[in-house]
Amino acid sequence: MRSAGGGSGHALWGGRFDGGLSGEMEALNRSLDVDWRLWPHDIEGSRAWARGLARAGLLSDSEAAAIDRGLVDVAAQLERESGPARFRDEDIHTLVERLLTERIGSVGGKLHSGRSRNDQVATDFRLWGKDAIRTMRHGLASLAAALAARARETTDMVMPGFTHLQPAQPVPVAHWLLSRAWPLVRDIDDLDAVYRECDVLPLGAGAIAGCPFDIDRARLANDLGFARVSENSMDAVSDRDWAVRLVFVAAMAGVHLSQLAEDLVLFSTSEFGFVRLGDGFTTGSSLMPQKRNPDVAELTRGKSGRLVGNLAGLLTVLKGLPTGYNRDLQEDKEAVFDSVDTLELVLPATTGAVLGMTVVRSRIEASLRAEMLATDLADHLVRRGVPFRESHHIAGALVRLAEESGRELGGLTLDEMQAVHPGFTDDVPGVFDPAASVESRAVRGGTSASAIEAQLDALAEALERVAEGP
Ligand code: ARG
Repeated sequence: MRSAGGGSGHALWGGRFDGGLSGEMEALNRSLDVDWRLWPHDIEGSRAWARGLARAGLLSDSEAAAIDRGLVDVAAQLERESGPARFRDEDIHTLVERLLTERIGSVGGKLHSGRSRNDQVATDFRLWGKDAIRTMRHGLASLAAALAARARETTDMVMPGFTHLQPAQPVPVAHWLLSRAWPLVRDIDDLDAVYRECDVLPLGAGAIAGCPFDIDRARLANDLGFARVSENSMDAVSDRDWAVRLVFVAAMAGVHLSQLAEDLVLFSTSEFGFVRLGDGFTTGSSLMPQKRNPDVAELTRGKSGRLVGNLAGLLTVLKGLPTGYNRDLQEDKEAVFDSVDTLELVLPATTGAVLGMTVVRSRIEASLRAEMLATDLADHLVRRGVPFRESHHIAGALVRLAEESGRELGGLTLDEMQAVHPGFTDDVPGVFDPAASVESRAVRGGTSASAIEAQLDALAEALERVAEGP
């Protein structure tokens, strides 16, 4: 097979250079393996640019038609390729231009009038970014919806809520699950802000100083589906802020996923046994027949590391850049692509794990201890006029009394309690019912059945807004 193009003979700046790039430099220079995935957007941007050039009188109707047809044919050809392996071109822009010119001859060379790869790549990348954001929103919303679905089934199941990983107060299982859904809604809100920032057209900025031809950039933006045009050509070719913010949201989402994953690792241990992950999401051990390993959660937790790393990497690339375009910017794409790809792996797997896990009511309810109601015991006295600082102290003394006599807090008699404080009344045993404790917290955002219902409604509403998004 003929090696398909590329190499020094095809360099775009041939005019003033002798010989070609050294092999070592060519290897460093090449970005085709990374930016290959931009080809549909490169074609889309080029077709719109050709229309703009025709409107500006730089292409005749027949030239514009030839370029457009040529680009459509190149797209069909690239569609059939399984990847960039057989091409030696520097990047996706040079590849598309070479294939076009090979097809339609020298008129293909007119396409680059007034355009630089600097505004071209910035445009392709944003077109890709807008699609990627839509996909990410969908993945995050699906996981939030899965958590909500499991929450709807578990509103009447009470588990220990933890602080410092110590049993703290009883909460419905639904409340825990929903506590892992709201952060994802915030991630989606952040993505919407990134989308608006990404939705700005750089094309027409040229290499750095704008375009000398009569290009209607507003029309071009409209043609490519951008909401606005960039206001400063120097900023337009070097601005990757939207990309950093996208990678930040991916890192933040990665942290949220990692925290949920940690819950699943912990709660699926035989010591807890609150959840059992589905067979499709656990692995066995090649050595220990009894093992059921929560690999889905561990891999998700592990992948969050690279999401955080990509953010640090991209910020570091940008940090020292002087004014204008700098080639360092070619490093932008790998971090962004990797973050988006990683989330696309991790989100469906986590969603599947959440939908497929068994919530083990018996183990959860067996883990409830009367000590988790010590705060409710103090509140019993507060309702009877005792200042909380005092009632907290009294409840603490009763916890200690129970501990020292080897009993549960609920095992103390009314007499014993009244000996510590006369304010306890004969309805105090009702305090030791976790379901009643949960039901007593009816504030917005609380744990009562009606509060959970309102929370589920609010989440459903937020997820409906997501479905309407960009
Ligand atoms: N491949 C480059 C990138 O990914 C675009 C090329 C711009 N090159 C240049 N020498 N100005 O950013």
